Amino acid sequence: MADRGTEGSYKASEMNTNVEAEIERLRQQALWGWDKELRNLQWFGLQDGMALLEVGSGPGFITAQLLDTFPSLHVTCLEIDPEMVERAQSYLATKHSGRYEIVQGNVMDMPLADDSLDFAYAKSCSSSICPTRWARCERYAAFLSPAASW
Ligand SMILES: C[S@@+](CC[C@H](N)C(=O)[O-])C[C@H]1O[C@@H](n2cnc3c(N)ncnc32)[C@H](O)[C@@H]1O
Repeated sequence: MADRGTEGSYKASEMNTNVEAEIERLRQQALWGWDKELRNLQWFGLQDGMALLEVGSGPGFITAQLLDTFPSLHVTCLEIDPEMVERAQSYLATKHSGRYEIVQGNVMDMPLADDSLDFAYAKSCSSSICPTRWARCERYAAFLSPAASW
């Protein structure tokens, strides 16, 4: 696996036997255990109507689960890999239009306005993104309003 410095170590096309197998693994992982994932998100304070930042949103399977679950949630997806951005766009477009936006970029060097979001979430990204946990957390916190959860 290539060393990508602050861009993270994960690239879907370099994982698994091929990119389609990796996408399918992510799809199954997003569905499997969603009830527990949701329970934890709500425990941390996620509520319908919030503006959520999803870091490393990949092909959009988790985004779809969130949008299906919360009818008034708005999700800003931040994803570094242009191929994943394209996949998420086509996966989400038919069903969820208007309630999400997908921004292509590196969370460590990001075009979002600071203090603009209510909740930050990065599913299955702990080893994918950036050098240290604290650097990541500080970065996520910068996007959130002072009362937000992360
Ligand atoms: C293991 S995948 C998880 C995808 C999705 N969260 C899920 O659970 O299905 C990690 C994702 O993080 C993205 N990623 C890695 N480094 C990133 C960075 N620095 N900024 C934004 N996204 C990043 C990868 O391209 C990949 O799509």
